Amino acid sequence: MKDITLKIDNKEFKFPVVIGTENEKGIDISKLRAETGYITLDPGYANTGSCESSITYTNGEKGILRYRGIPIEELAQHSDFIEVANLLIWGTLPTKVMRKRFTDLLTNNALLHEGLKHHFEGFPFDAHPMAMLSAMVNALSCYHPVLALPHSSREIEKAAAILISKIRTITAFSYKMSRGEPFIYPKPEFSYVENLLYMMFSLPHEPYEVRPEVKRAVDLILILHADHEQNCSTSTVRMVASSGANLFASISAGIAALWGHLHGGASQAAIEMLEEIHSGKMDVKQYIKMAKDKKNSFRLMGFGHRVYKNYDPRARILKKLSRNVFKVLKYKDHLLDIALELEEIALNDPYFIERKLYPNVDFYSGLIYRAIGVPKNMFPVFFAIGRLPGWIAHWKEATDINRLQIARPRQIYTGPAKQSYVPMDKRSAAISKN
Ligand code: ACO
Repeated sequence: MKDITLKIDNKEFKFPVVIGTENEKGIDISKLRAETGYITLDPGYANTGSCESSITYTNGEKGILRYRGIPIEELAQHSDFIEVANLLIWGTLPTKVMRKRFTDLLTNNALLHEGLKHHFEGFPFDAHPMAMLSAMVNALSCYHPVLALPHSSREIEKAAAILISKIRTITAFSYKMSRGEPFIYPKPEFSYVENLLYMMFSLPHEPYEVRPEVKRAVDLILILHADHEQNCSTSTVRMVASSGANLFASISAGIAALWGHLHGGASQAAIEMLEEIHSGKMDVKQYIKMAKDKKNSFRLMGFGHRVYKNYDPRARILKKLSRNVFKVLKYKDHLLDIALELEEIALNDPYFIERKLYPNVDFYSGLIYRAIGVPKNMFPVFFAIGRLPGWIAHWKEATDINRLQIARPRQIYTGPAKQSYVPMDKRSAAISKN
């Protein structure tokens, strides 16, 4: 395709166009500043491609999500989380041999080093599990210093297995700690998701029986969260990785980014919103009114998305899944009725229609977690377990020796122009002026 011409002060500059597999077009401005003296300004990076990536394709206008080319709907129907993790990290679905090797690695790495286990004792019992998770994942760098900067495929595979297996144990142990219950150890014969639920909900005298439908529901939720290209937490992982930081440290930073209520924290915020409506403090219409009020910073939680200007395909699957899980568990939750009412009103309101605001992945996931018994503050932790293979895949892609480049954006400075240092005895007048 032809270059794009930019005209500045009657001078023309040409910049190459980069076209992706799905005909996505970008202007390569890497020489813009050197050639013109200008930079681009794009707060929130809504129009900025930070990298080329072969992992995940989204099309927000059409509501498309594909991992390595495979539609999310097909993966949700046929695959499981560990297979999807392999697909994201290695680029292809695993063969039987690869799958067996990775499963064995997960089993062999499920336990935490006793030293690492003692870290839990340093946290207050009501510590937020995302704070513990981020800290514990960073601490893995101390216990696996060589694998923290993996080079060969085998090292990356081992480091990925350590992370994917231990994040599940850390999650279960932090839940147990918050309840003052003893840690429960994983069983090698259980699947990944079975062990997660077993370690969380079992007691020494009362093993938790994992229902196949619940196992499948959690597996599906993890698949749906496994990657979403350059979202805030993944971009954070890539940015931290770009400095040469190790895999565990980069992922720890991603967990911190995910915690925010505009990202992975939204599922907890969405449930709290539904709870408040249910308690009678506010009704659905008041919430909608508040979300539309430009003088109010409140946003309808679990609604809207930077990429999706159509129904989020993951929310569509989760909406259906929530109904199935409720039916199987014979579970009734008034919050589901409120969520459905909220969606119905919002989707018919001109404010939401004009801005193309639809339910996102966080709108229905919390309802399923509630039905299973996962507490609200653990919702983003489950999101992190799901997103982990995506983060690993992006860390691997970003640290590829052929493309490693430190991420360092520019800015437009708007502070004071050059001014002189004011000695202490002359300052009060300057301060009172402000
Ligand atoms: N409720 C009310 N209004 C909204 C909402 C919402 N949930 N989301 C966006 N808008 C409005 C904005 O106020 C803005 O209105 P304006 O054009 O009149 O100024 C317009 O829609 C466009 O919004 P942006 O802020 O430009 O959208 P952006 O892409 O920056 O933000 C985000 C996306 C952060 C997800 C936003 O929709 C939001 O805050 N949603 C609620 C939080 C949430 O659910 N987050 C989870 C996202 S999914 C995930 O991270 C896994």
